[in-house]
Formats: sequence, C-alpha cells, structure tokens
Amino acid sequence: MNVLVLGSGGREHALTWAISKSPRIGDLFVAPGNGGTAAIAQNIPLSITDPDAILGFCKDHEIDLVVVGPELPLVEGVAEALRKAGLAVFGPDAQGAMLEGSKSFSKEFMMAHGLPTAAYKKCTSKEDALAYLEQVGAPIVVKADGLAAGKGVVVAEDMDQAREAVEESFAGSFGEAGYTVVIEEMLTGPECSMLAFVAGGKALCMPCAQDHKRAFDGDRGPNTGGMGVYSPVPCVTPELETQMRQVMELAAAATQEDFATGYRGVLYGGFMLTPEGPKLLEFNARFGDPETQVIMARLASDALDAFEAVAKGDITELDLAWKSQVAVSVVLASAGYPGKYEKGKVILGIDEAEAMDNVIVFHAGTAFNSDEELVTNGGRVLNVTALADTFEEARDLAYEACEKINFEGKQLRMDIALRAIRN
Ligand code: AMP
Ligand code: GLY
Repeated sequence: MNVLVLGSGGREHALTWAISKSPRIGDLFVAPGNGGTAAIAQNIPLSITDPDAILGFCKDHEIDLVVVGPELPLVEGVAEALRKAGLAVFGPDAQGAMLEGSKSFSKEFMMAHGLPTAAYKKCTSKEDALAYLEQVGAPIVVKADGLAAGKGVVVAEDMDQAREAVEESFAGSFGEAGYTVVIEEMLTGPECSMLAFVAGGKALCMPCAQDHKRAFDGDRGPNTGGMGVYSPVPCVTPELETQMRQVMELAAAATQEDFATGYRGVLYGGFMLTPEGPKLLEFNARFGDPETQVIMARLASDALDAFEAVAKGDITELDLAWKSQVAVSVVLASAGYPGKYEKGKVILGIDEAEAMDNVIVFHAGTAFNSDEELVTNGGRVLNVTALADTFEEARDLAYEACEKINFEGKQLRMDIALRAIRN
C-alpha cells in the first residue's frame, strides 16, 4: 500500500514512523517532511494546502491512502477535495474540521449534544463582549473564535486582563479569527487529552496523554505548542477514563448526525478534570503534537490498519493493542522559542541517543543544509521519547538521551513527567 503523509512536524514523523513499520507498506512519502522523515520515507516538496498539486502527485505515484497531519489543510478542505476526487483520506472534511476551526461552532456542537463543557457566550462585537464581561466578572477565559496558532486563548485572572484580551482580539491581533470571541467560564483541575479514531459515528479511544504547554519548568512562561508529554496519565482513574470515553463516543455519534459526510479522522478531546467530572476545553480535528509521539510509541498494533479503516469509514472491526510500558517525550527547542529563534544550528548526537534501547528520537523542526548536515529548522526541534515500565525509568532514559544530543541554544524543560511520578 502506497501512502502519503502531509505535514512536517514531530507528529508527522511519529505517524510516518508507525506506518513505516507495517508489513503492508509499499512506497511511503511525506510532504514536505523533515530531517527525520527523510530517513524512513521520501520527502516531497508539495504544498499541503494545494489539493490539485497533491492530487496530481497521488495519481502519478499510485497513492492508496493520504494521512493529513495538521489542522490547516483540514480546515481549508484539502482532505475533502482529495476524498471527492476518489482518494482514501485520513482526516475530516471541512465541516468536521470546524470543530477545531471555530470555537463557537465547537461549543454549539457540545451544547447541542449534551457534552460536558464550560458555560460560555459567543460575542460578535466588542461592545457585546465587554458588556458580557461586566455581567460575569473575572476570572474568565477569552478565546478568539478561529485558528490562532495556539495564541488565541487568554485565561484572565482579573477584569483588566479580560478587557485587554477582548480589545486585542477585535483590534485584529488574530485577523479574521478574532472578530468573534467565545467568553467562557474558567474551569480548574488537571488537563488530559483523549484522542479517538472516529469513523461512521463510532469512536475507538486511544490511551490518555498529558502535554506540558508552558515554556519553562514549573509551568511558568508563555504557552507553547507543547514542551513534553507522557502517556498514560496516572491521575486518570478507571472511572474518569470511562467518563471521557463516553464523551468521545457521544461526540463521534454526533458527528454522524450533524455532518453531511460524517467524520473520518482523529478527534482530539482536550479535557479538564474538574471536581464535577471531566469537561471538554476543546476539540481538535487532528492528532496532537507532541501527544502523538508518545501514543504512537505505545501502539502495539499495525498503525496502517487503523488509518486505512478510518479512511474507508468503518472501524467496527478495528481492535488496537497498546503496550503496557509508559512513554515520556521531552522536547528539545531552539533558544528563544516560542518567541524569535534562529535556525540552521548543526545538530549532533542523535545516533548516540537512538542507539539506546527503548529510545526514539522524533524530529520536528529539522532539515539538511547544503553540506548535508542535519540542522535546526524550527522552534521545536526534536522529541526525545523513551519507553519503560515506570515513569521514573522512562524519564531518566529520556533525559539521558537528551544529554547526548547537542545544538547551539538547546532549550528543554527538566520537569517533564514529574507530575506523573508525584501521582
Ligand atoms: P485551548 O486552545 O482551548 O486548548 O486552550 C488553551 C489552554 O487554555 C488550555 O489548554 C487550558 O490550559 C486553557 N483553557 C482553555 N479553556 C479554559 C477554561 N474554560 N478554563 C480554564 N482554562 C482554560
Ligand atoms: N499539544 C496540543 C495540541 O496538539 O493541540
């Protein structure tokens, strides 16, 4: 089976790595890919938001399955266009992708189907938003409606912060995405992500994972795409896990009811484990990054079976096994990330790290320079991932591997998965 993966992050390296291990894999391509995918697949310089170019490539190379990694092509209808042209595609149509592409659409979906989430109001004018703030007071959460590269959410402790968030959003900080805001009740509790394969109104849930979103140790500093992750999540009791599964199953059934063409892809439920039980903070219409790196590391079944079943719209026969080992992944980032950072720093030591048993180094922002040296090419550079029987061991192993890898400005958090150990 010939497969094309779209994307270039650590998530896509992990997906490609999992697919590459399938005995059924034929030719494997990644567009545009990164330094890591180049070693296990063929990188192709295609624009992932250009369905015609992708379609042309797929015809020329007899592609049987396209796996879409990031949200942008999903929201722009790339999966949908490819599917309409007759390809098997992993990733929802544009309507399903709106669960991520519009916070208000997502909240309306949650409310309509009785999915637990924070109380909210959708505001389409600044005046309306400011008036609502006066009514409900702080603390409060202000969210730009559309895609804002992870920067559109402000958890405001006081009214000044809340008002400023509203002013900025309507002043155009997030472009079109911010001219509608969702103002939402602040929830408290640990966060946990549950991802599910969804097709035909059914959900097959994956093990939980927990991301570390802030840049610095102790959950300080600005929000990032994610600085490290672990799976499973010890604070999730079997009872909580069952409750989250039920939410994901209800959501999957609702996609079949609401969306003209159903939903075929991953649905990512971002939960907060509140004193009243798990509540949804958000849906994403794709795999999480870096959650995918630990989830794929723990998958014991053939990943291609899962992607193919989802793309064909029937997961009723799909049965996935997961390793009992836990996984910890530490992000090595460029100095300055999530702010300004430099690219092109030579990376050394990956081979030594990967020579360690139970260590996998997923590449995120890496590329080869004109001298064929592996160099940094993004904010998040590598995801150093380790598997072990306990979190202590997996953490030690991951950090031992991190020490072997060097590039100028290497930045990492030293407290990834400490939360899991304390639990
Ligand atoms: P989102 O993009 O919706 O995942 O929001 C980003 C982050 O903001 C989440 O991971 C939470 O840490 C925080 N957040 C979002 N919504 C809420 C809420 N209602 N209450 C408290 N924190 C929230
Ligand atoms: N790691 C959070 C996300 O992928 O949205």
